[in-house]
Amino acid sequence: MKLSVAIDGPAGAGKSTIAKIIGEKFNLMYINTGAMYRAVTLKAMDANITEKDVDKLINLIESLEMHFVEDRLFVNNEDLTDMINMPTISNNVSKYAAVAEIREILVKLQQNIAKKFNVIMDGRDIGTVVLTDATFKFYLTASNDKRAKRRYDELISKGLDVDYNTILNDIIKRDYIDTHREINPLTKADDAIEIDSSSMSINTVVESIATYINSNTKNN
Ligand code: DC
Repeated sequence: MKLSVAIDGPAGAGKSTIAKIIGEKFNLMYINTGAMYRAVTLKAMDANITEKDVDKLINLIESLEMHFVEDRLFVNNEDLTDMINMPTISNNVSKYAAVAEIREILVKLQQNIAKKFNVIMDGRDIGTVVLTDATFKFYLTASNDKRAKRRYDELISKGLDVDYNTILNDIIKRDYIDTHREINPLTKADDAIEIDSSSMSINTVVESIATYINSNTKNN
C-alpha cells in the first residue's frame, strides 16, 4: 500500500525532528522540503541573485540536482546540510520561498519523489498543495517562546554565538511572511490533525503520531 505522511507547521515547531523519527519507524523516505528552499536561497545568495531576478533563479534551480541521503541534503553531490541551517539563510529564505516560479519547480520535484516512494514530507504546504491526498496529515505548532528556545538551543549546541531575542523576532518575522505570502501560504489543511507541542516532549509527539498512524492503518 502506498503511504504518505504530511507534516506542516511554522518554524521551530519540531517538524524535522519528528518527521525523521516517524520516517524511520514506518520505513518512509524523509523529505525536508524546507531544506530545498534553503538550498535555493544559499545558491542564489552565493551567485548574488535576488528574489526579484526570476529568470536567473529559474536557470539556477535547473542547474541544481537535489537528493537526500537520510536527513542530509546533497546538491550537485555536495552535502549542504550544515550551511543551509545557518542564521543568514534562515533570515532570507522566506523571500525566495515566496517566488511563485521557485515554488512551482520545487513542488513538482517533491510530487515526483512521492510518486515513486513512500514518503514523509515536512514543510508549509505539504498537506494543502504538495500531497493533497496524503494518507496522513499533521499540523505541528508550538508557542513562539518554545519555538525560539528550541532554535536557540540548537544553534548554541552547534557552537554559534546567538541571542535569544533576535531568534524570537526572526521566527515571528518569518512566520508572518510564510503565512501572508500570496502563493501557497502556510495554513493548516482542513483534514490535518493539529498537535500543539508546546508542553510535549519529542517522544510524546512521536508516540501520539505513531499511535494514530497505527490505529488508522489497521482499521483500513
Ligand atoms: O522548515 P524550514 O524552517 O527549514 O523552512 C525554511 C523556509 O522555507 C520557511 O521559512 C518557509 C519555506 N518553506 C516553504 O515555503 N514551503 C515548504 N514546503 C517548506 C519551507
